[in-house]
Amino acid sequence: MRKLAISGAAAAALLGVQAAHAQPLQTPSSIAEEHREIHGALERATHEPGDLGAAARNLLAVLDPHFKREEEIAAPPLSLLLPLSRGPATPSMRSVLPMTRALEAEMPKMLAEHRRIGQARARFEAVAKRQGRLDEVALAEKLAAHARQEEEILYPAAIVVGHVVQRETAPPPRPRRGP
Ligand SMILES: [Fe+2]
Ligand SMILES: [Fe+2]
Repeated sequence: MRKLAISGAAAAALLGVQAAHAQPLQTPSSIAEEHREIHGALERATHEPGDLGAAARNLLAVLDPHFKREEEIAAPPLSLLLPLSRGPATPSMRSVLPMTRALEAEMPKMLAEHRRIGQARARFEAVAKRQGRLDEVALAEKLAAHARQEEEILYPAAIVVGHVVQRETAPPPRPRRGP
């Protein structure tokens, strides 16, 4: 009986480890939701006639691939902030490293995309203001705040996650031989 209980616990632990390995890192729901809200509202604006719809389509064309890449490399590492705030990094967290290294390497491109998005957003906002479209003006402001939050907090936080995981799961240095 005792043997069976131990086997059960060992099997459960093993399954837990496997589940932790199999579980891909997910974009935190608050960020996924914000992306969905911005994307959905902008998509609706693309169906507007005239200048407003054209400006929305221009903006969506530069925003779409950028959001997609963020959800591949920039946002999933943020799901490790909570566990890392509670304890040390674990070896299974090393699956984040290809993402955070890609984000570091692609940072100039991500920031250049923010500048292009910013220009398309400014044109969309100007049309919305001219037409008195308050919801669309608010959408443009929300997108500007979103990009600023990424540059000031979220991108650096994702990179810090990578550094912490790398540092805390690296094998200890070999002891140096004495003189
Ligand atoms: Fe974003
Ligand atoms: Fe972004």
